[in-house]
Amino acid sequence: MNKKTGGLAGLVVGDTAISTVGIEGLDLTYRGYSIHDLAEQSTFEEVAYLLIYGELPNRSELQAYQEKLMMLHELPDEIQTLLEIIPVTTHPMDVLRTACSLLGTLEPESAHYSQQEIADRLIASVPSMLLYWYHFHRDGKRIQTGSNQPTIAGHFLQLLNPEKMDETFRRAIDISLILYAEHEFNASTFAARVTTSTESDFYSAIVSGIGTLRGPLHGGANEAAMDLIQLFKTPEEAEKGIHEMLNKKMKIMGFGHRVYKISDPRSDIIKTWSKKLSEKTNDKSLFKISEKIENVMRSEKKLFPNLDFYSATTYHFCGIPTAMFTPLFVMARLSGWSSHIIEQRKDNRLIRPDANYVGPAPRPYVPLDLRD
Ligand code: COA
Repeated sequence: MNKKTGGLAGLVVGDTAISTVGIEGLDLTYRGYSIHDLAEQSTFEEVAYLLIYGELPNRSELQAYQEKLMMLHELPDEIQTLLEIIPVTTHPMDVLRTACSLLGTLEPESAHYSQQEIADRLIASVPSMLLYWYHFHRDGKRIQTGSNQPTIAGHFLQLLNPEKMDETFRRAIDISLILYAEHEFNASTFAARVTTSTESDFYSAIVSGIGTLRGPLHGGANEAAMDLIQLFKTPEEAEKGIHEMLNKKMKIMGFGHRVYKISDPRSDIIKTWSKKLSEKTNDKSLFKISEKIENVMRSEKKLFPNLDFYSATTYHFCGIPTAMFTPLFVMARLSGWSSHIIEQRKDNRLIRPDANYVGPAPRPYVPLDLRD
C-alpha cells in the first residue's frame, strides 16, 4: 500500500463547520466550543441540539428539546416484534443496525419526518431498542420503553436497571455521551457521508455509520479494551502481559490515534470519571491495572490512551454489560452522524476517489475450455 495515502491518512477530503480535531489550539471543538467546556458545563442534550440545529439551545429550547426526546422513546410494535426474533447471541451493534433499518421503513423520510426529526427520533429510541431486546432475551420481560427521565443517560440507566439509578453514574454516562458525540471525519462519519453523497436516505447513512463503528479499530475498541483489562488480576500481571503482547507485535486496544499525536483530549476527562467511580464502587484492581497498562504503553511505545480506554472501566463501574459499550457510542455519535448528513446534503458532490491499480497488466481472455 502507498505509505502516504494508505488509509487516506493526512488527506483533507472535504470542508466541515461541525468540529475540529487535533488542530493546535483548537484540539477538539464542536461548532467552536471546546470539549473541556462542554464536558464540564453542558449536557448531552445541549450538545446534540448544538450539533443537529447549529447553536446551543437557550433554557426554554433545551426544555422543549428534552420534552420532545421523552415523547420519542416508545417503539412501534413492529420494532418490538423484530427485537423479539433477533437471536440472543446477536451482538447488540447488529441489533441496533437492524432495528434502525426497520425504523427507516416505518417512519421513512418524508414531509412528515424531516431529517432533524429523524435524528431526534433515533437519539431518543436507540436506547429503548437496545434495552427492550436485552430484557426480552435475558429474562423474557417486555419492558415499557417510556421513562420520565429528561436525559438520554438517565433514560438508558432507568431502562437498564432502575436500582442503579444514581446521579454520579448518570452524569458519568452523560459526560461520556458528550465526549463520544462528534469527531470530524472519523471512519463511521465518513462512511455516513459517502452514503449521503449518493443521495441515499438518512437511515441508510446511519446504518452505514453503525456498521463502520462496530469494528475494534474504531468504536469496538471500548469493548476490546475492557476484555483486555479483565485479562489481568493485578497491575504486575498486566505489566508482564502487555510486554508479552507488544513483543508479539499485538495491538493494545484503546491506545493510539490516527489524528492525535501527543494525547487524546477526551481521555483525561473520562479518566477522572473512571477514577471517581472506581473509588465509589470500591474497585480494588481494575483502575490500577488500567493505569499500569497506560504507563507501560507510554514508556514502551510512546502511545497514549484514547477515549475508548478509560470509557471501558467508566461504563463497567456503572454496571453496564461490556457488549453495550459500543452501542453507547452509537447513542452519542448519532448526533454527530446526523449533523454530518445534514451538512453533506447542503453542498453535495458524489464522494468517489480514485485507486492506484496494482493488478495484472492487460492480458487476453482465456476461454473456459482452455483453462485446465
Ligand atoms: N498498540 C500497539 N501498537 C500500536 C497501537 C496500539 N494500540 N497503535 C498504533 N501502534 C503502532 C503500530 O503497530 C505501528 O507501528 P509500526 O510503525 O512499528 O508498524 C504504529 O504504531 C502506527 O500505527 P498504525 O496502526 O499504522 O496507525 P494508524 O493511524 O493506521 O491507526 C489506530 C490508528 C487507532 C487504528 C491504531 O492506533 C489502533 O489500532 N489502535 C488500537 C485500536 C483503538 O484503540 N481504536 C480506537 C481509536 S479511537
